[in-house]
Amino acid sequence: MRALIKIGGSLLDDPASRHDLARQIAAVAASGVQVAVVHGGGKQMTRFLEERGIKSTFVRGLRVTTRETIDAVLKVLAGSVNTQLAAALGSAGARTVGLTGIDSGVAVAEQLDPELGFVGRVISSDASLLSTLTGAGYMPVIACVAGGANGEVFNVNGDSMAVAVASAWKADRLVFLTDVLGVLDASKTILPLLTIEDCRRLIAEGIATGGMQAKLDAATSAVSNGVAEVRIVRGSDARIVSRVFAGEGAGSRIVGGAN
Ligand SMILES: Nc1ncnc2c1ncn2[C@@H]1O[C@H](COP(=O)(O)OP(=O)(O)OP(=O)(O)O)[C@@H](O)[C@H]1O
Ligand SMILES: [Mg+2]
Repeated sequence: MRALIKIGGSLLDDPASRHDLARQIAAVAASGVQVAVVHGGGKQMTRFLEERGIKSTFVRGLRVTTRETIDAVLKVLAGSVNTQLAAALGSAGARTVGLTGIDSGVAVAEQLDPELGFVGRVISSDASLLSTLTGAGYMPVIACVAGGANGEVFNVNGDSMAVAVASAWKADRLVFLTDVLGVLDASKTILPLLTIEDCRRLIAEGIATGGMQAKLDAATSAVSNGVAEVRIVRGSDARIVSRVFAGEGAGSRIVGGAN
């Protein structure tokens, strides 16, 4: 089985949380599942920029990315966050390889919208590097940075990066570890099972907004592209990764058909 696990940045900020997740993910890999990891780092980015007197601006949930910001993306996302996660997974026994979408065409992007600057939309993903690595027992740990056709570097939303990679690599499951229990309805009740239509409705009705809107957009595109199961769970819940892979029903599950 191939599983892509996407870890939200806020779960990686605290060393205890990072090491706890790393131990669970390494255990899943040790049980024979081929695992690739994509991570975000929005919180770390905002803090890094703030320390340098740069205010973060968002349009439709996406960070406006200037030349200065993209340099910070490389230092923070592809640098510290990626390396610290690889170190935690490595110490838990995983044979990690830290990389970005730029390596061997794992994610090629084009500019999403001139208003957003260097924010990319992934237009192709060559997963042969990932297959080679995971086939040989390594665990790719991918920062959500993509390359352009002309050598540009793009900042890509972690969820859409995860989906592009999961689809190209033909992952059987995609697990989003985030900072909320799952997808919540208007009365803040968890929705355990959602179809693509449910996701579209939650977005249209303004119930899923910001980061969750991006996640549901990504999830529906993953399901449409053949990923059998997408899960959204709270990464800080005890033994959450182990429980998901043991078949327990935590969080929200997004499925293709009307079931
Ligand atoms: N209907 C909803 N149900 C649950 N969360 C929602 C909903 N609508 C909006 N949200 C917001 O979406 C957030 C999760 O997305 P967010 O982008 O912040 O995290 P992430 O994708 O896990 O991390 P990162 O962006 O760093 O990779 C929640 O913290 C919550 O504030
Ligand atoms: Mg997000």
